[in-house]
Amino acid sequence: MRDQAEALRHMVLSRDSDDAKQTRILTVTSGKGGVGKSNFSLNFALALQKRGHSVLLFDADIGMGNIDVLLGTPAAYNLFHLLKRDKSIWEIIQEGPGGLRFIAGGSGFKDLIRLSDEELEYFASEIAKLYGEVDYVLFDTGAGLSKETLRFIEAADETIVVTTPEPTSITDAYALMKMVKTMGQEAEFRLVVNRVGDNREGLQTSDNIRQVARTYLSLEIPLLGFVPDDAHVSKAVKKQTALSYLYPDCPASKGIDGIAAEYLNESRKTSVQTNIKGFLQRVRKLWS
Ligand SMILES: Nc1ncnc2c1ncn2[C@@H]1O[C@H](COP(=O)(O)OP(=O)(O)OP(=O)(O)O)[C@@H](O)[C@H]1O
Ligand SMILES: [Mg+2]
Repeated sequence: MRDQAEALRHMVLSRDSDDAKQTRILTVTSGKGGVGKSNFSLNFALALQKRGHSVLLFDADIGMGNIDVLLGTPAAYNLFHLLKRDKSIWEIIQEGPGGLRFIAGGSGFKDLIRLSDEELEYFASEIAKLYGEVDYVLFDTGAGLSKETLRFIEAADETIVVTTPEPTSITDAYALMKMVKTMGQEAEFRLVVNRVGDNREGLQTSDNIRQVARTYLSLEIPLLGFVPDDAHVSKAVKKQTALSYLYPDCPASKGIDGIAAEYLNESRKTSVQTNIKGFLQRVRKLWS
């Protein structure tokens, strides 16, 4: 087998230049399932694109993916073909409405997949090829802290934790951050509160989580914003069309758009190291 690590080293030498496009990895996750990660990820990706940033939306809910369903764009190839080394990264990238590039997670093979070290290494080296091709790689993970999800969190420059105001969702979000911290992993968490009744509820929820994380985990979690509880989300899911296309002015679309603006504003201030060396170090965490 060709030495993937050697191939990555080669890439660093050939593609590290100051004016190359830098690629940042963002992971969207949650403690509890069904809190709105996939809808948020899709519309957040579109909001970033609308603001001039190219995004590859990556359905990292391995074997249970549904980004292609949300977009109403059946995917010929998906993550399965990449993990099994049947296809290259370029062959599994699909184009959705509005030119959004995405990789489908595939469905119905969660129990079948046992990745060998070689497969994982191939996977990471294919992801590494994305450097300089897009501004953001956005991983939409499955619920809970699986081994795979932990890898996507470790590999991310920033991890957006989505919660709702429900106490079960809040405690699970906290538990997820605690587990990551207890395992000694470094993660830059950001908070999004989805399905808020009003801003007061959003603030109460975020104050609660941020205070507990500060006190017990010594973590300062910046708040990106709130998304209102909005019946348009379910309507868009049923129509298999992205919310922000179908209802660009509905409260949830506006909430997500505001979060994209806040995110871009914050990340300009923090200038995370996203050169190719940093990127490859992150990508390596997908298999090491
Ligand atoms: N802001 C919102 N307002 C109203 N309903 C919402 C909102 N966000 C999500 N939903 C509802 O929650 C459902 C689940 O959303 P979604 O599939 O995005 O969750 P998820 O966190 O990705 O789930 P999983 O953990 O299974 O991956 C949606 O189909 C929609 O009906
Ligand atoms: Mg999902």
